Amino acid sequence: MSNYHVKTLEEYFQVYRKSVRNPELFWEEIAEEHFVWRKKWNNVLSYDFSKPEIKWFEGAKLNITENCIDRHLQIRGDKTAILLEPNNPDERAEHISYKELHKRVCKFANVLKENGIKKGDRVCIYLPMIPELAISVLACARIGAVHSVVFAGFSSTALSTRINDCEAKMVITSDGSYRGAKTIDLKGIVDEAIESCECIDTVLVAKRIDSEINMKENRDKWLQPLLDEASENCEPEIMDAEDPLFILYTSGSTGSPKGMLHTTAGYMIYTAYTFKNVFNYKENDVYWCTADIGWITGHSYIVYGPLANGATTVMFEGVPSYPDFGRFWEIVEKHKVNQFYTAPTAIRSLAKEKLDFVDQYDLSSLKVLGTVGEPINEEAWHWYNDNVGKKKSPIVDTWWQTETGGMMISPMPYITPTKPTYATLPLPGVQLALMDENGEEIKGNQVDGRLCVKYPWPSMARTIWGNHQRYKDTYFSAFENKYFTGDGALRDEVGYYRITGRVDDVIIVSGHNLGTAPIEDAINEHPAVAESAIVGFPHDVKGNALYGYVILKDVGESRNHDNLRKEINQIITEHIGPIAKLNKIQFTVGLPKTRSGKIMRRILRKIAHNELDNLGDVSTLLNPEVVQSIIDDRL
Ligand code: WTA
Repeated sequence: MSNYHVKTLEEYFQVYRKSVRNPELFWEEIAEEHFVWRKKWNNVLSYDFSKPEIKWFEGAKLNITENCIDRHLQIRGDKTAILLEPNNPDERAEHISYKELHKRVCKFANVLKENGIKKGDRVCIYLPMIPELAISVLACARIGAVHSVVFAGFSSTALSTRINDCEAKMVITSDGSYRGAKTIDLKGIVDEAIESCECIDTVLVAKRIDSEINMKENRDKWLQPLLDEASENCEPEIMDAEDPLFILYTSGSTGSPKGMLHTTAGYMIYTAYTFKNVFNYKENDVYWCTADIGWITGHSYIVYGPLANGATTVMFEGVPSYPDFGRFWEIVEKHKVNQFYTAPTAIRSLAKEKLDFVDQYDLSSLKVLGTVGEPINEEAWHWYNDNVGKKKSPIVDTWWQTETGGMMISPMPYITPTKPTYATLPLPGVQLALMDENGEEIKGNQVDGRLCVKYPWPSMARTIWGNHQRYKDTYFSAFENKYFTGDGALRDEVGYYRITGRVDDVIIVSGHNLGTAPIEDAINEHPAVAESAIVGFPHDVKGNALYGYVILKDVGESRNHDNLRKEINQIITEHIGPIAKLNKIQFTVGLPKTRSGKIMRRILRKIAHNELDNLGDVSTLLNPEVVQSIIDDRL
């Protein structure tokens, strides 16, 4: 029996039991057998959740790019590492072999060095899904620089907040990007963002759309001429197991985004292990995850996990609707994709279109289908299973988070019997607990509670960049000695888990986590707005959409309300990005508040969901009378 690749359900249970009985031994065996080390560890794990402090493989020395690239050169140097499918289907797909990837990463790493980037420096990457995105991520890792990728759909304000928070010295971007029929002026967004970022010395610019852009002297440099000049040799920086690998921002329920810090060895081992098992990846498979590298899914399961296994990983620059709604399936047919990993929101949007968009393509290469990012509803699950998988490819519904680094709960395909809407069982090494509101663990089956993890796993985030106290408060204070996920879950009669959704003020819209506070802060910047509150409500494609309740300063505000709605969404787009726009905006005279002045979102949520007979006791509110007026004016 191999720990590394589980092959039967019986083996899963054995491996799982072993991983709980002796987690250190379990992960140590995997680390020994499947990775290259410059020096082995002195200690597998030390941790203290009360601080919290977590260290895996202390004393070990390695470079993750040696594991993801160099060690494959002998045996699979000519194999495609990254397969790039461009936005425009008429443009040729690009196959980057492991040898080529090695060369391009080394050159890029040398360019970083020549531009003053050293081990430990932060580099912000704001790029579309072009090869330079994966290559720059790996180039940072090669020299020990800490990458912070910001999804290229974020606004200039969101970008500058992130750059300033981690004090990045450099931004890597492109002249622009293609998104379906549109082009986006990325460089313009970067220019605007870094007007308020004193930390930035250099902006490297990749050419993608050949647009006229502004290049600021002594700051902005075209990437290609520098790469052309750079040497192909770059010795990897030897890193400690716990040296930072990257920062990735995620929304919180309050205030500024949280820069989740991931470190090197544990993250590498865990993403590689879960990739192998959850996708049942075999040597000649072609694997495709449709996420953007700007999200954790792309970090772990487009770049690091697949490459650590010597896989062929597809990167797609475009969108599922361009040139038509068959694009995903055309790509599956064209590249004979074996494992396909996407988000429920994409499935729901495609399920609305004619089936012919799916049926005209040969999808027989598919062996495993995956979903991630939000709960998948039953209807979408069946549509995916029937029409894409033809009832032959198991669906792995993978639950995890930016904070967890890798998948935590998921079926293993062909091993764990699936059940629609259930993420099923914890992966080896993952020890879950459901907690009640009094902080007690709820044992047994057919129960529900708040989802926690009670033992460290290798890829957990180690801190929030620059704010360890917030890390402790957010994740380790709700329940003693446990990591609290922020999600609710139920455990059915056989022990399968189903994630029921967030129990905090994070709302997941089209698979993107949005905190209510930053959106409300943005709305409140509008000169006519006094106060606002955001809640989620069900939406058939996005999963959730946003409903905003807004109090105007001047109740008799004479402007047309539709114009005001547009202006409010415009401000949100500028501060956060178009993904955070509100679907409904109701102007109201008040918001229901507790006597201590806290907005009772529960009531607003019920009204937005149209669940009016179930509002609960409102008599204890400071202002119970506003509830009826909100109900009367609801949209
Ligand atoms: C939600 C994405 C139900 C959950 C990898 C979690 C899910 C948040 C699932 C993290 C799933 C993710 N079923 N809910 N399979 N996967 N979620 O940080 O609420 O972008 O806490 O990481 O997405 O989102 P994040």
